Amino acid sequence: MSEDQAAPERRNFYGRVHGKTLRASQKTYLAEDLERLSLAGVTVADNPARVPLDVAAITGGRPLWLEVGFGGGEHLVHMAARYPDIAIIGCEPFVNGIAMLLGKIRAAGVDNLCIHPGDVRDLFDVLPDACVAKAFLNYPDPWPKARHHRRRFVTQGYLSALARVMPPGAEFRVATDIPDYVRQTLEEVPQAGFDLLAQTGQGAAWDDWLSTRYEQKALREGRDPHYLTFRRQG
Ligand SMILES: C[S@@+](CC[C@H](N)C(=O)[O-])C[C@H]1O[C@@H](n2cnc3c(N)ncnc32)[C@H](O)[C@@H]1O
Repeated sequence: MSEDQAAPERRNFYGRVHGKTLRASQKTYLAEDLERLSLAGVTVADNPARVPLDVAAITGGRPLWLEVGFGGGEHLVHMAARYPDIAIIGCEPFVNGIAMLLGKIRAAGVDNLCIHPGDVRDLFDVLPDACVAKAFLNYPDPWPKARHHRRRFVTQGYLSALARVMPPGAEFRVATDIPDYVRQTLEEVPQAGFDLLAQTGQGAAWDDWLSTRYEQKALREGRDPHYLTFRRQG
């Protein structure tokens, strides 16, 4: 790296990366499919100069969508199958979730989806301005303790990076079951340059919504979903 290039930012990731022992089939999916479906040039190791990605080469000219923290991948695969004329990137560092997604991709046979198996902030670094037409944040980690609220996605570090990669008019959807997360989302997302378009609750999700594992868990445990829709200003 030359002297005038800034060193890539070092970041802490506080979530889980590994969970229960993987099933044999999941190990096979990881071994056979993950590299082919993973975006090159996203990690610092792969792209230390942080050269921006060639989005047209990834999408083939289709609109690009992004899901942050796809968990088990059910919503991501659902969107890819429902909208074959878009390309969608899913980011998720949790290996068990990635393995679940890979099984779902095989079952659905979708080919308009790729993965960054890591922190979305590494992807933000290398996405060009205004290239993401729609973004989804479904049941982000709640970080319930007040001293951990700064780890939430809905803070300016994450949101300003998201805002940079979304053009005016692009849609940003947030689903959460945590009332205090709704509060922080309503405070912070507009500060980053988004207008609130809609806020609904249980039974009134988006027309094309697919309930996720975390939403199912929240419903079983008696918590109410909240659905927030924002539009990038400009
Ligand atoms: C509570 S889970 C929800 C998973 C899924 N969206 C659902 O609704 O079932 C939040 C997910 O966000 C992921 N996550 C947290 N921080 C992230 C980051 N910086 N980049 C990408 N994913 C992240 C976590 O690994 C976790 O799987």
